[in-house]
Amino acid sequence: MGKTIIVTGGAGFIGSNFVFHMLENHQDDRIVCLDKLTYAGNLSTLAPVMENPNFRFVKLDICDREGVNQLFEEEHPDIVVNFAAESHVDRSIENPQVFLETNIIGTSVLMDACRKYGIERYHQVSTDEVYGDLPLDRPDLFFSEQTPIHTSSPYSSSKAGADLLVLAYHRTYGLPVTVSRCSNNYGPYHFPEKLIPLMIINALNDQPLPVYGEGLNVRDWLYVEDHCRAIDLIIHRGTVGEVYNVGGHNEMRNIDIVKLICKALNKPESLITHVADRKGHDMRYAIDPTKIHNELGWLPETKFADGIQKTIDWYLNHEDWWQPIISGEYQRYYERMYGNRAE
Ligand code: NAD
Ligand code: DAU
Repeated sequence: MGKTIIVTGGAGFIGSNFVFHMLENHQDDRIVCLDKLTYAGNLSTLAPVMENPNFRFVKLDICDREGVNQLFEEEHPDIVVNFAAESHVDRSIENPQVFLETNIIGTSVLMDACRKYGIERYHQVSTDEVYGDLPLDRPDLFFSEQTPIHTSSPYSSSKAGADLLVLAYHRTYGLPVTVSRCSNNYGPYHFPEKLIPLMIINALNDQPLPVYGEGLNVRDWLYVEDHCRAIDLIIHRGTVGEVYNVGGHNEMRNIDIVKLICKALNKPESLITHVADRKGHDMRYAIDPTKIHNELGWLPETKFADGIQKTIDWYLNHEDWWQPIISGEYQRYYERMYGNRAE
């Protein structure tokens, strides 16, 4: 018999890609998407699956204990995958409070419901940012699951707090949990506040491309579908109580990504504008994915050259998705963040 899987944050970037992945690859399962629809959640993303009989969308805040309990009573989920989060580092620097509420309190509300109603698996979608950063001059160093938690931003601290709570619920209450810590994702439906979609959209509009500092910071980029496959494997075959790092050994400097986007869109590099650096900016992230490879056979399948071209093509062909997003509230955010940011 198929399982009922609650996917929180399924109207966001990775959550929506995961909803599509699950409906396609597990056709006996029922996917219940719970999402508050913050500025980052977009119901139009889920339009292609709204009529699917194996899919249900519920507008709900993961901090709403009563609402979450009621949903568990209605759906009796077998598995919960928690993507719901405030996810943007720059916004967390501007205002940490909502990060603590959603990312920490929201996680505890979900896990309390799992304890109350019983669950086969609770999976926490976490981030490599909980490990802090690595120095640029030590390319031999990588984050393993044993790397100490050492956070830099309110965002990463809130995610680390949630991780610790998830592992504590396992040890204290025996809740069957798993945690994945993934590197930077890219692909379709990525919200335009993040580096890659922001640069693609600004370049298309012949707008300045705001690179923080010198652009030498390194991120380890993974195509979103590869992340979704990793979570699928972990919830089905991963060991309860374990943390799995997910990343593709694909380290790139920000400036090189921006130049690559200019080249792919045939735009001049003179659009690149160096702006004031992010406060507390992490230098380098790099994941060692040996554990998930050895235990679950996971490997990334999409090469960066292919993934970035697919992503650029997607933004070229889906202006109807991003154009409404970048008007209105996003304009005010952009003005706040970049309006007065000369180096
Ligand atoms: P996103 O910001 O695109 O989407 C977040 C979604 O969560 C949105 O649909 C939003 O409406 C929803 N949400 C926010 N607060 C909520 C609340 N209180 N209740 C219910 N729903 C709420 O984020 P994303 O980039 O898709 O990231 C998803 C998860 O993956 C996050 O937990 C993030 O920390 C983690 N992660 C992201 C990356 C990355 O590169 N984007 C990498 C590793 C881990
Ligand atoms: O590593 C996983 C994390 O990756 C996730 O946990 C976060 O949710 C996700 O947002 C992402 O965090 P980053 O801070 O690495 O992503 P962002 O796209 O914001 O920035 C990537 C790099 O690009 C970072 O070094 C800052 C830089 N940057 C970003 C923006 C938005 C710029 O230079 N200019 C910009 O305008």
